Amino acid sequence: MACAPPFRLLLLMVLVAPSQGTRLGPTSRLRYSRFLDPSNVVFLSWDFDLEAEIITFELQVRTAGWVGLGVTNRYTIVGGDLVVGGVLPDGHVYFSDRHLVGEDTLQEDGSQDAELLGLTEDAVYTTMRFSRPFRSCDPHDQDITSDTMRVLAAYGLDDTPRLDRERTFVKSIFLLQIVHPDELDTPEDTIIHDLEITDFLVPEEDTTYACTFLPLPIVRKKHHIYKFEPKLVNHNETMVHHILVYACGNASALPTGISDCYGADPAFSLCSQVVVGWAVGGMSYQFPDDVGVSIGTPSDPQWIRLEVHYSNFRNLPGVRDSSGIRMYYTAKLRKYDMGVLQLGFLTFPIHFIPPGAESFLSYGLCKTERFEEMPSPLSQMNGAPVPDIQVYGYLLHTHLAGRALQAVQYRNGTQLRTICKDDSYDFNLQETRDLPRRVEIKPGDELLIECHYQTLDRDFPTFGGPSTTNEMCLVFLFYYPRNNISSCMGYPDIISVARELGEEAADSMEGMMAMNNIEWTPESIRKAEKACKEAQQTVIIKTIDETVENTTGWIPEITPMPRGPCLESWGGKVEPQDETPAGFRAAPGALSAVGTATPWRLPMAALLFGQGAFSWLLANLQAGV
Ligand SMILES: *[C@@H]1O[C@H](CO)[C@@H](O)[C@H](O)[C@H]1NC(C)=O
Ligand SMILES: *[C@@H]1O[C@H](CO)[C@@H](O)[C@H](O)[C@H]1NC(C)=O
Ligand SMILES: *[C@@H]1O[C@H](CO)[C@@H](O)[C@H](O)[C@H]1NC(C)=O
Ligand SMILES: *[C@@H]1O[C@H](CO)[C@@H](O)[C@H](O)[C@H]1NC(C)=O
Ligand SMILES: *[C@@H]1O[C@H](CO)[C@@H](O)[C@H](O)[C@H]1NC(C)=O
Repeated sequence: MACAPPFRLLLLMVLVAPSQGTRLGPTSRLRYSRFLDPSNVVFLSWDFDLEAEIITFELQVRTAGWVGLGVTNRYTIVGGDLVVGGVLPDGHVYFSDRHLVGEDTLQEDGSQDAELLGLTEDAVYTTMRFSRPFRSCDPHDQDITSDTMRVLAAYGLDDTPRLDRERTFVKSIFLLQIVHPDELDTPEDTIIHDLEITDFLVPEEDTTYACTFLPLPIVRKKHHIYKFEPKLVNHNETMVHHILVYACGNASALPTGISDCYGADPAFSLCSQVVVGWAVGGMSYQFPDDVGVSIGTPSDPQWIRLEVHYSNFRNLPGVRDSSGIRMYYTAKLRKYDMGVLQLGFLTFPIHFIPPGAESFLSYGLCKTERFEEMPSPLSQMNGAPVPDIQVYGYLLHTHLAGRALQAVQYRNGTQLRTICKDDSYDFNLQETRDLPRRVEIKPGDELLIECHYQTLDRDFPTFGGPSTTNEMCLVFLFYYPRNNISSCMGYPDIISVARELGEEAADSMEGMMAMNNIEWTPESIRKAEKACKEAQQTVIIKTIDETVENTTGWIPEITPMPRGPCLESWGGKVEPQDETPAGFRAAPGALSAVGTATPWRLPMAALLFGQGAFSWLLANLQAGV
């Protein structure tokens, strides 16, 4: 590097600009953003490169002190991974990759894996931008994955990084969201239609499932619904826990009014084809540009069941609610009609989870071979061969004991892939997520759902059921082209499970009752988990018009997916006294000469913007981009 400083600076500025959009640099727009704290003081923007497996964060905090951003886990922030930086009163910058060795004490990582792209302080904000690999080779760094991430942010009022409870925030975010709503089409002829419960008096009970049947818009020709948005009434407390919309196959027998979905009148549980699900923490969902929910043709639903789950844990009286779902539809047709396939463990009546379990796995099997059956007087699952389906999105659902879920696909006895998963499930963040790549399911494939629970806080078995304190194990796959199957769920032979646990049972009901007699210890919990996994599964397949079929099968083994290689970083720690910051390995010697001759005011910060860009640029050049 012998060229003159001005030239080098010029080179930098010229080269950085056109690269924007292909790789994330110091000034590229970050597509995603969110406040991390309730008072809107801590603002995070981020974006990522899925191919390169690099994520870029920009944290902006109303402080003149230090700021920190990282990742932690569900249970404790100790061990949490935090990148810390700030600007000293004299304009010098510090920045390093650290981890928490206690509730409040930070230690520098032996390996510095975050790359500083910018650090500035003005009258209001300190702003820090950096990149890091999804998966560095440093055990102190936590991986960024397509699981729910517990994002950890902290700041201080001075430049001594030390966490204090008041200025530390953890927020669950699905960071690697594939599609940004701004990138999707909004048709000009959009029509809005609200599906809502009107003025419902929320009962003074912990859990209420309120159901009502509503007509879809009456349209004379085919339209596509392309977006759903929750419509929540602002109360002092959020009581709406989830909302589901089910399409009705046969509208002739639907009841009127609002009633308990799973109560005395079984008519209120009619219609089981999920069209859209929203749950606490979720946002609106817009379908990909080539997919929509068809309405207006003879084979389309005309009615839906709206199910609103209220959690009134404080048993407040007199709360009226009119929540629901706002749908957007258009006459500009998309290429495909979408469908939803519900998979998992059949909620009633077999599902149980022992108390005091550090970890308990439940399995529900789906065998799609019967999807294909041709019409016969006994079996009319679809009436036609089912075409291969393309899955583009998913929604995972358990209640409070759920810790992780995955859906695994098998063909001809061979595991093909994990279709979707979340190893760090958060009940308070349930949303429809897009797959990075569409997945094809062929008739005959087996689909296995694994749900991972923890019940250390419980003294009695947890049974499957609709209440938040019961459990569920569900995965909804969003796919096209639609067929008539609404759900395909499995459950184990509970009589044989009871027998393995030393209990006699004449039928399933007795088998379930027997679970209350067992003394639950780590050994009996393992034994129950194994017995459930090894028992024969009954698979129940339902169609949109409530035809039910069944088959049997066995739970296949799940081979864990190999993890990709970890990435050595280009980043580095920055000490305030550094003239040439350490760690910018990609650009040795190239940096010192830029010095104070830069056109910016804050010498160090400006220098770092330049250096970050340079090493990032070199990294790209070396990667052949
Ligand atoms: C909501 O909170 C405000 C202020 O805390 C209170 O004045 C109001 O009565 C509350 N409303 C309800 C419906 O509880
Ligand atoms: C719809 O429901 C009505 C009443 O239960 C029943 O008589 C009719 O056969 C059903 N139609 C279809 C197509 O299933
Ligand atoms: C499964 O294997 C059989 C025999 O090897 C083959 O004929 C069939 O096409 C395979 N099925 C799928 C879905 O690949
Ligand atoms: C779904 O069922 C209807 C009748 O109930 C039938 O007309 C239609 O062809 C079926 N769709 C598929 C994809 O099989
Ligand atoms: C499965 O289907 C068979 C035949 O239709 C029926 O006799 C049996 O009761 C069904 N089993 C279950 C568990 O639904």
